[in-house]
Amino acid sequence: MDQRGEGDYFKMMKLNTSHALLKESIESYQEKVNELHKVIFERTGAGNDFMGWVDWAETYDKAEFERILKVAEKVKDKAEVLLVCGIGGSYLGARAAIEMIQGLYSGNKTEVIFVGNTFSSTYIAQVLKHIQDKSVVLNVISKSGTTTETALAFRVFREFMEKKYGKEECKERIIATTDKARGTLKALADKEGYETFVIPDDIGGRYSVITPVGLVPLAIMGVDIKKIMAGLYDAYKELNTADLSKNPAYQYAVCRRILQNQGYDVEMFVAYEPQLAMLAEWWKQLLGESEGKDGKGILPDSANFSTDLHSLGQFIQEGKKVLFETILEVENPTEDLLIPTDAENSDQMNYLTGKSYDWVNKMACLGTIEAHEVTGGVPNLIISIPDMKEYSFGYLCYFFFIATAMTCYMIDINPFNQPGVEIYKKNMFRLLGKPTK
Ligand code: PA5
Repeated sequence: MDQRGEGDYFKMMKLNTSHALLKESIESYQEKVNELHKVIFERTGAGNDFMGWVDWAETYDKAEFERILKVAEKVKDKAEVLLVCGIGGSYLGARAAIEMIQGLYSGNKTEVIFVGNTFSSTYIAQVLKHIQDKSVVLNVISKSGTTTETALAFRVFREFMEKKYGKEECKERIIATTDKARGTLKALADKEGYETFVIPDDIGGRYSVITPVGLVPLAIMGVDIKKIMAGLYDAYKELNTADLSKNPAYQYAVCRRILQNQGYDVEMFVAYEPQLAMLAEWWKQLLGESEGKDGKGILPDSANFSTDLHSLGQFIQEGKKVLFETILEVENPTEDLLIPTDAENSDQMNYLTGKSYDWVNKMACLGTIEAHEVTGGVPNLIISIPDMKEYSFGYLCYFFFIATAMTCYMIDINPFNQPGVEIYKKNMFRLLGKPTK
C-alpha cells in the first residue's frame, strides 16, 4: 500500500489557528483529550457499537475490496450513466468524493446521477427521460433497506431497468449495497440475483463512505479506491496520538469547543473550489447528525467562496456574531491556467496578465480572511490539504471522523446515533397511510 513513513503528521493536513481569535489555549485541554483518546481507541464511550471505522483501514474485507474492483471493471463499459440510489450517509460521501476528485466537468465517459435522495416528482421524471436512451447501471445503497426515499426511487428505476433490459440482464446491471443479512433490500437482491456488497454493522451511514457504500460507485466512476484506502490508513496511523501538538484533528476538535465557549454556535465550512460543495454537504451531515443532540452542538453551515462572498459575505462581515469559519484550503488545484493578455486592455484586467487563476483565488482567500478576522471579528480556522486527489480524500475522511468523535465526547454527546431523524418519518408514515405491523 502507498503509505508514507512515521512522523509525517502535519505534512498531509495542517491546522492554522492564527486567525481563530481563541481565548483559551488548545494545550489546556490536553488532559481531557488524553482521557477521551483512550475512550475512542479502546471503544468504551457512548455509541461504541458503531466504531468500526476506527481501524477500518486495517480490518476491511480485502476479498470484498477486490470484488469491488472486479465488478467495477466489468460494468464500467456498460455505464454510460451510473445511477446511484441512496440518501444521507448512503449518498453524500460518494458524491462528495466523486466531485472533489474528478471535478465537475471531468469529461468522464460515465455520467453519475444521484437518485433516491428526494421525493421530488419533477426530478425523478426528468432523470427518467434523461436516461431513456442511455446505457445504465444502477447501484442501490441502503443499510436499513427500508428508507422510503431510496426504496420508492428504486422501485421506479428498477421498473425502468427491467423494461429496458429484462430481468436477466438486470442481474449484470443492478448492484445492491446493503446489510449482510437483514432487510427488504437484501431479500430482494438475493431473490433477483443482483451482485451485493455489505455495509458493515458497526459503521453508521455518515462514516460509511470508506466502505462499499462509497467505494462501489467510486470504483465504477474510475476513482482509484486503493489510494483512498492508503490515505485512510496513514491518517489512522498518524492521528492515533493524544498529543495535541501532533494531532491537527484533535486540535480542530478542541478549537470548536473553545469557540463555542466564546459564544459561536454556528460553524461555516468554507471552500474556494466549487468541486468541494458536496464535501461541505457531507461534512454538514457528519457534524450535524453526530453533535446536534440534547440541546447541544454547533450548527454546521457552508459556503463556497468567492461566489458566496457576493451574497452571504455581507452577513459574515457585519451581521450578528454567531459564526466562525472553517476554511478548507487546497494548496495545489487540480488544474490551473494563466490569465491571457488583451492588447487593448479594454476590460482593464491587464494588471493580472500572466498570473495564474489559482493565485488570484488564493489572494481572494487571504483578503477575505483579513476582512473577516480583523475588520469583522469573525474567527477563522484554516485546514490545509495538499490537493483534491484520492489519497487526500481518504486522509481527510479519517481526520473528520476522529475529530467528530473527540469534539462530541468533549460535550458528552454520543457521536454515532441519530434519534432525531426518526420523528419526521413517523409523521410522514402516518400521513402516507403506511400500515403498522
Ligand atoms: O447517517 C444516517 O444514519 C442516515 O443519514 C442514513 O445514512 C440515511 O437515512 C440512509 O439510511 P439507509 O442507508 O438505511 O437507507
